[in-house]
Amino acid sequence: MSEIKEILVATGNPGKIVEIRAMLDADVRWLCLADMPPIAEIEEDGLTFAENAYKKAAGYAKATGLWTLADDSGLVIDALGGAPGVKSARFSGEKTKDADRTLIDHRNIAKTLELLKDVPKEKRTARFVCRLCLASPERILIETKGTLEGLITDKEIGRNGFGYDPIFFVPHLNKTVAQMTGEEKNAISHRGNAIREFKPLLDELLKTGL
Ligand code: IMP
Repeated sequence: MSEIKEILVATGNPGKIVEIRAMLDADVRWLCLADMPPIAEIEEDGLTFAENAYKKAAGYAKATGLWTLADDSGLVIDALGGAPGVKSARFSGEKTKDADRTLIDHRNIAKTLELLKDVPKEKRTARFVCRLCLASPERILIETKGTLEGLITDKEIGRNGFGYDPIFFVPHLNKTVAQMTGEEKNAISHRGNAIREFKPLLDELLKTGL
């Protein structure tokens, strides 16, 4: 019998860890950064979501010697030339500590709505994007991508979720992401889609033991 594989999830966001572990449901011992001795934080200064996910996965894998899973996600708005993109978390200023997250979310939303105030409904197309990357200290093992298409509203609607959820309207469900339950969101979300694509690839990798 081979040993149970340990995989480090390289995020400080506890919500993401719970979601990723539950959805992947693999025979793996999941670790998070808090389980590790202090490691210098890896900058998310890439130009694309894929680059940032790779940088974090490869960087923490090299630092710890463990297989490491990292994600990078954000909002891409067509009328803003793809902004806020990789800067989604810090669109209105610098990213701060967890305690200020709600305030930062509100400021990010306010800036987005202001920039879009003269843009008509049909031109307010946008998508959430999520990139996942699993790396060993030597190489990339798995990379996947998930998206969710929608329209940016002209005001906040709904109270669930986080980030840009209250202004992201999903036409086929006729509601914003902030009006969805966690389960409803997972079933269609960019992160949910990236994880669903990732799962069979991880299962195969664990089976072959490479
Ligand atoms: P990350 O934690 O570096 O991936 O930052 C992603 C940022 O993109 C978050 O802080 C949010 O502003 C935004 N974002 C990513 N996923 C979502 C989502 O599911 N809903 C709302 N906003 C999101």
